[in-house]
Amino acid sequence: MYSAPFPFENLDDMAKRALLEAESAMENAYSPYSHFKVGAALFNNNSGVIVSGANFESASYGLTICAERSAIVRANACGMRNFHGIAVIARHEDFDTQEPTFPCGACRQILIEIAQISEFNIRVIVSTTKKDKILIAGINELLLSPFGPADIGLDLSKYRK
Ligand code: THU
Repeated sequence: MYSAPFPFENLDDMAKRALLEAESAMENAYSPYSHFKVGAALFNNNSGVIVSGANFESASYGLTICAERSAIVRANACGMRNFHGIAVIARHEDFDTQEPTFPCGACRQILIEIAQISEFNIRVIVSTTKKDKILIAGINELLLSPFGPADIGLDLSKYRK
């Protein structure tokens, strides 16, 4: 699945809540090097749980942690690995984004892990800063032919929680 762009009003309630949580986390980004603030929020449609994250940079640049992976490790620390989607939003300190911000390649790979644990094609909801241009894509479409736990014969159902 890969939608055409649409405005915030057209999102369902769960996705709206997640995007607003991501927007709030974005303001907590620690990004003194790039000045680019990213927020992400995982959501589970059944429980209504939302777990957010923000990017955290380092003076050793390559150690930077993206908002999406920060949300995933935070959720894991709280005992949650079962999600249906993730909302992502970003802004530069000096300008708003004009196009939705997509997860980087590393985050797509880690989202595949969550997708295979959850047995669900995680909905990736990406937004512009002003939330006027949003689109939804399945992680399976964002990372084609991925390498993942299934390839090494793992049954991850016991890790779902
Ligand atoms: N960043 C994220 O947090 N998520 C993404 O999907 C793209 C990039 C962060 C990493 C870095 O702190 C800043 O954005 C600029 O690359």
